[in-house]
Amino acid sequence: MATRHEAGVQGPYRVPAAVVSDAINDSKKHLLLAASGSVATIKLPLIISSFENHTNLSIRVVVTKAATQFLAGQSLEQPTVSSLALLPNVDAVYLDEDEWIEPWTRHSKILHIELRRWAHLLAIVPMSANLLAKATGGLCDDLLTNVIRAWDVKRAIIAAPAMNQMMWESPITAKQLALLAEEWDCFEILSPQVKQLACGDVGQGAMCDWHEIVAVIEKRLASA
Ligand SMILES: Cc1cc2nc3c(=O)[nH]c(=O)nc-3n(C[C@H](O)[C@H](O)[C@H](O)COP(=O)(O)O)c2cc1C
Repeated sequence: MATRHEAGVQGPYRVPAAVVSDAINDSKKHLLLAASGSVATIKLPLIISSFENHTNLSIRVVVTKAATQFLAGQSLEQPTVSSLALLPNVDAVYLDEDEWIEPWTRHSKILHIELRRWAHLLAIVPMSANLLAKATGGLCDDLLTNVIRAWDVKRAIIAAPAMNQMMWESPITAKQLALLAEEWDCFEILSPQVKQLACGDVGQGAMCDWHEIVAVIEKRLASA
């Protein structure tokens, strides 16, 4: 039986980490697409669908617990998290609990490590204020932050922050961005745009235009 979020998997049930491990050398380009708890998570289906015509691309999606709140089937532009697995090139969608599907025993694969080994590129779209803080502070208490913490810095991470403009303008955000720029070469930040935000405020905080995000991902994947 296939797992809840595993797309197109046939045959006997296998834990997600083992499935990812087996796919590492499948000769495809591997995009790990992650979303955290911002309203801009609703752009994820559009971003994924825009890779429809890419042959030889495998996409695995990681969503934080907060991100799932925005993709619960509550409106037409907000399909369920599980339905993301039906989009073209998506091989699986992971939640935090996928790390712990079976009690770990010696020689078992570990999902966040296998995802890092598998991924040629990590794109975090959107990156919440909370995730920015956790990543720059080295915290790793869920699947996505463990992937980031265990990341091979020779590979690229694209991150598109999206948050209220007061959060973006806060001195702590500037400090965190400076740390990434100075000490974490692999991080490429796609700055938020100025517009009216979902909360009604106007300012810099809306996620970078998703077409631009797709263009950057395509460029980075081509050289990955
Ligand atoms: C309706 C709603 C919208 C939110 N939008 C954002 C947002 O756009 N950006 C952001 O950084 N946080 C936003 N938050 C707060 C985050 O969801 C919250 O900080 C959460 O802990 C983030 O968790 P994560 O980083 O693990 O995904 C929002 C919260 C709610 C209730």
